[in-house]
Amino acid sequence: MNITHIYYDEIDSTNNEIKRQIEHNIKEGTVISAGTQTAGRGRSGHDWISPKNVSVATSMVLYPKSVKMEHVPRMTLLAAVAVAKAIESLYDLKTEIKWPNDILVHKKKICGILTEMEAEAGQVKYVVVGIGVNVHNREFTPELLDKATSLDLALEEEGKHILTHCKDVTKEIWNSFGEIYESFLETEDLTSILSFYNDRLVNKNRQVRVLNPLGEYEAVAKEMLPTGELLVDKSGEMIKIDSGEVSVRGIYGYV
Ligand code: BTN
Repeated sequence: MNITHIYYDEIDSTNNEIKRQIEHNIKEGTVISAGTQTAGRGRSGHDWISPKNVSVATSMVLYPKSVKMEHVPRMTLLAAVAVAKAIESLYDLKTEIKWPNDILVHKKKICGILTEMEAEAGQVKYVVVGIGVNVHNREFTPELLDKATSLDLALEEEGKHILTHCKDVTKEIWNSFGEIYESFLETEDLTSILSFYNDRLVNKNRQVRVLNPLGEYEAVAKEMLPTGELLVDKSGEMIKIDSGEVSVRGIYGYV
């Protein structure tokens, strides 16, 4: 994949900016990153705070015309693996993944991913994968205080004196994503990342609460399947759950 990087000191949201630039025919693999976002967006309509020059806020545009619309959410799982690989290879920190796509270090969230798609007549027009990684952050809002961390905090906790750089993190993530994405296009399933993902699955064999619109229940998380679904064991009944329909909470808190 040919990756082109564009950087802004400040933007409303890198996902928003890339969508505006799609109107000007930017190429697949164009990445827009920013030092700070004034209106960063998270999943489920939440805000995503990107304070000035302390974190990565980055988005890539893809035009996967041949990929079925219903397979696009799998690209978020590819991005999760790309981030985990980047953190591990750059800083030798162990990562875990909270299904579907939160990357954790020391059991705390270090990264969020927001994938957005536009389709027309049942065909994918574009996909924007937006990634936020906490790098130098030291302060969090009260509700995030025991749930979030940053690369610098995690490295300090391990007594490692390593200088981190947002630019290095951004480049490594997208290089890694490019490779994973190309093998995904061949099969449209997650076989190539499955063992990496499941080895880091923090929910594995843990009791989780499945927040299904049709009713909540508790089950034991088993593994992610090549479709991206999470297989859970509800008192002996094996159920596949889809990230688009349900979310999962640990019963003892965030994980
Ligand atoms: C989440 O809720 O966990 C997802 C957060 C995604 C944040 C990133 S930062 C870069 C891109 N631009 C945005 O406005 N959001 C995503």
